[in-house]
Amino acid sequence: MTQVQSPDERARFVEAQMTDDERFQLLHGFIPLAVPGLPEFPASWTPCSGRIPGIERLGIPDLVETDASLGIINPFGLRKGDTATALPSGLAMAASFDPALAIETGALLGREAKSKGFNVLLGGGLNLTRDPWGGRNFEYLGEDPLLAGRMAGASVKGTQSEGVIATVKHFSLNTQETLRETLDARIDEAAHRASDLLAFELAIEEGKPGAVMGAYNKVNGTYACGCHHLLTQVLRDDWNYLGWVMSDWGAVHDVSYFANGLDQQSGAALDKQIWFDKPLRAEVEAGRVPRQRVSEAVQRIVRSIYAVGADRQGDAPPIDIPAHANTARKAATDGMVLLQNDGVLPLDADSRQRILVVGGHAHVGVLSGFGSSQVMPNCGVAASIPMSAPFGFATRSRQVLFASSPLRALQESMVNAKILYDSGYFAQTTAAHAANADLVIVFATQWSSEGLDTAGLMLPEGQDTLIASIAEANPNTIVVLQTGNPILMPWLSKVRAVVQAWYPGEMGGSAIADVLLGQVNPSGRLPITFPSSLTQAPRPHPPGLGAIEGTPAQVDYHEGAEVGYRYYRQQGHKPQFAFGHGLSYTRFEHSGFVVFQDRGTWIAQFVVTNVGSRTGADVPQVYLSAIGERPVLRLLGFEKVHLAAGEQRTLHIAMDNRLFCHWEQKTSGWRQSAGRYQIALAHHASDAGLTTTIELADAWISGRHPR
Ligand code: BGC
Repeated sequence: MTQVQSPDERARFVEAQMTDDERFQLLHGFIPLAVPGLPEFPASWTPCSGRIPGIERLGIPDLVETDASLGIINPFGLRKGDTATALPSGLAMAASFDPALAIETGALLGREAKSKGFNVLLGGGLNLTRDPWGGRNFEYLGEDPLLAGRMAGASVKGTQSEGVIATVKHFSLNTQETLRETLDARIDEAAHRASDLLAFELAIEEGKPGAVMGAYNKVNGTYACGCHHLLTQVLRDDWNYLGWVMSDWGAVHDVSYFANGLDQQSGAALDKQIWFDKPLRAEVEAGRVPRQRVSEAVQRIVRSIYAVGADRQGDAPPIDIPAHANTARKAATDGMVLLQNDGVLPLDADSRQRILVVGGHAHVGVLSGFGSSQVMPNCGVAASIPMSAPFGFATRSRQVLFASSPLRALQESMVNAKILYDSGYFAQTTAAHAANADLVIVFATQWSSEGLDTAGLMLPEGQDTLIASIAEANPNTIVVLQTGNPILMPWLSKVRAVVQAWYPGEMGGSAIADVLLGQVNPSGRLPITFPSSLTQAPRPHPPGLGAIEGTPAQVDYHEGAEVGYRYYRQQGHKPQFAFGHGLSYTRFEHSGFVVFQDRGTWIAQFVVTNVGSRTGADVPQVYLSAIGERPVLRLLGFEKVHLAAGEQRTLHIAMDNRLFCHWEQKTSGWRQSAGRYQIALAHHASDAGLTTTIELADAWISGRHPR
């Protein structure tokens, strides 16, 4: 059958052989975790995020699910001693602007999943960063739908190339953590289509993920996991999505979610009832839910198994752990963003300077973000500090430091320098030590966690005061940031360089040293805007902040599709650092910019030249910058290009026609209005760049994907 039939034909054929018990078995999942409050499960099951027993007689494997946004997790460390490659955070991945790298890291996740017995990855979070304080922004892929969609699609492709089903989540608008289970996210439909939904649409088109995970929150008044509009009209009728939709864990409140388009109730023990078992059977028997809908849901699940080859995994070859660590190191370095540099960087490996490294626990490791994406890294854990919140997911959160010390990496790479460490705990003492050093490198951190927003934009725990007093004491100060969100930098003009390292993963220490020393020329670009003040942000605080769990709340996404840099531009705000910004140790020039049409597709053509003296990588960005007289800003395309000193290359970037359009609700399609469109080739979103204009005619593109 594998040879002669399509996944759809096989799914139909196999589903027809099933008994009803077998069908309903596939529609709800267990959480095989031996933690208080959760039901027991067979001893042979490996502890993990979720499991759905398969049907042996029909060759359908158990679906064994693991969270894996940033590596294969080991929940509560229940799989004794089982560690995995810990990749940098999602924002670091997005900052690479490199889909080829996302394919590579996606494949790494697939291989490790398979070797540990998993065949479904609950990765692929791509909720857009609408707010600079979102607690899970670190896990996601930034504020732009094209960037997030392409990176997520590439990662899915990589994972599924290893025969492991990938997921994109959380569909849709789970963009804040505060009251996420009761929050109603309000948005205009056309704006939703052109922003968060577009990110999913692009990721699904590109990666064809086997599963989509619904979100906790409501969207325009209806819970996302039970929303007929999202799950049936958008995902099925319009996008012709062929995989299955699973719920988030504890996000199903009613049996009606099934009829509305949810195919599988995940972690069903977390909900009030196992809705997709007895209550659903009763609905079917009473004729309120057509039997055909049950067959359809089952076929979607089985189809993904066949399409991805999850039933043909065979024995997984052993993991090449050092090779995976190298990929993690590459991902970390390629995602680091050099925000500011007056020439103090790169450091000289032969330097004999006295260097003081301060703060961030840099003597033992690098920070990671907490939540269902928390990995137990192969490098070991240097410290796991219990954190907490009054309620919700973050009550059991921890601040986990991966044992990859930037201090040690610097000491190993700069053997002639005298590099000492100061925790920074007593700012005045540290400043006195700083005064006696030739150079100070401050490691500033901002931890984030699922279930908790990082409200405010200041560094926590007095680190701004610390940095200011160090910079006062020593003008040769460099700051390395490990944060899950943008932060304000009141001390910016007093320091010589700033490197954004995000949460750099298990090779973070070495990766930071690679960039500081110029072993790797930084090429990351910001996937999120760093505003200049909290008041610039569309919502300075999370709606509902401070209210107890279960309180109904509403967030009005009044900025609509104008997310991130688009909003700041529309409001005339000058951000601290623009979307797309990132420096290099060399310089790139763009020239010969033209835009032409080739068989219906607009192509941006230009030359990139490395005019500096080092090999490096540039990320030229093409934006739509005006329609007629109306200023707009929209990323139309980007490419990462590696060039030796003096080298130049002609690039061609094809642009998706939908990005020239707005969503037209009454025709369910993308409307292109006739007019002059200004296109800019820029280094970042605040750069006017080189511009050209094209004339576009009235046009309409169907929002329905071909069957
Ligand atoms: C998170 C999901 C995750 C799931 C299973 C939920 O709390 O929102 O992203 O996949 O748990 O662990």
